[in-house]
Amino acid sequence: MKLIITGGAGFIGSHVVRRFVTNYPQYSIINLDKLTYAGNLANLQDIEAAPNYRFIKGDITDAAFIDGLFKDEQPDAIIHLAAESHVDRSISNPIEFVLTNVVGTVNLLNAARKHWEGSYDQKRFYHVSTDEVYGALGESGMFTEETKYDPHSPYSASKAGSDHFVRAYHDTYGLDTVISNCSNNYGSHHFPEKLIPLAIHNITQNKPVPVYGKGENIRDWLWVEDHARAIDVIFHKAKAGDTYNIGGHNEWKNIDLIRLLCQIMDRKLGRTAGESEKLITFVKDRAGHDLRYAIDSTKLQKELGWVPSLQFEEGLEKTVDWYLENEAWLENVTSGNYQSYYKEQYQER
Ligand SMILES: NC(=O)c1ccc[n+]([C@@H]2O[C@H](COP(=O)([O-])OP(=O)(O)OC[C@H]3O[C@@H](n4cnc5c(N)ncnc54)[C@H](O)[C@@H]3O)[C@@H](O)[C@H]2O)c1
Repeated sequence: MKLIITGGAGFIGSHVVRRFVTNYPQYSIINLDKLTYAGNLANLQDIEAAPNYRFIKGDITDAAFIDGLFKDEQPDAIIHLAAESHVDRSISNPIEFVLTNVVGTVNLLNAARKHWEGSYDQKRFYHVSTDEVYGALGESGMFTEETKYDPHSPYSASKAGSDHFVRAYHDTYGLDTVISNCSNNYGSHHFPEKLIPLAIHNITQNKPVPVYGKGENIRDWLWVEDHARAIDVIFHKAKAGDTYNIGGHNEWKNIDLIRLLCQIMDRKLGRTAGESEKLITFVKDRAGHDLRYAIDSTKLQKELGWVPSLQFEEGLEKTVDWYLENEAWLENVTSGNYQSYYKEQYQER
């Protein structure tokens, strides 16, 4: 099997690449990534010399390049993670999200359709998506695979658009497609513009920890390696055209999560209890900030036997340990553009 994983230098993609390269030595795995600000090949240093792994730098918005790649490499399957993924960036620059997330996905679908014609039943197009396509929940209820799409941010709208195209290529052309929609991930190698790595970084540096609004927004958190394992199971076992929700049944208010993180950090850094919490700084809320997401992953658990492996507290400890042991990684990504972007984004009240 020759497998192209797009976005493999990013946060989740690097965990998916590592899992497939390690667990499937008989597969030939190509990591296709443009290396945007979020792509970091240092994420994959430990497996980059593996004989079944190759990296190709390329842009999924370039249709001719993608067509040539399919012609040259003749892949049997795609696991598509490449995307612009940060909601705040989608609010300042939506068009990048349309180009990468929608046009990039359609370029891949077109290449698959053309080069796999006549053998669709032996190929697979796996599209990795998000629970944000379902919109926001009130205080109760959960997103199931039947929940109507109702995206609110340019990011979630672009992911919803790409999901619709993937389903359309299954329904119209008979392509073997699979989609999964996952809740918020946390774990190692996460770019420190997102809540958990940003907070860990700032607490370590004794800098203010920005929390949007009053920190009332609720998210369902899943350890990234459990997401990669779910992708593995779904990729190998799902029926063509099927969709699975992936989530941790693990809802946290942002402010409670940050307080827990502060307690762990106090302990790990030998600070007195409550010291890190003083760094919490409430900042102007994100425009159109969805109140609550919660994923019902019963279908995945019942049909394919996947369950999350880690309790959140344990996963958070592991995550903190990784960041504290990998200061060089963090320093490397917290330089240059990121710093000016950070100042623009988090104007303290
Ligand atoms: N992070 C989450 O909590 C979460 C949850 C559910 C679903 N997802 C989805 O999972 C996927 C991966 O998310 P992530 O958090 O790892 O994202 P990320 O931003 O960390 O990584 C995205 C990767 O895609 C690459 N990329 C961006 N534009 C590209 C282009 N035009 N051509 C080729 N490569 C390009 C980047 O270089 C980067 O390596 C995304 O599709 C995202 O929507 C993320």
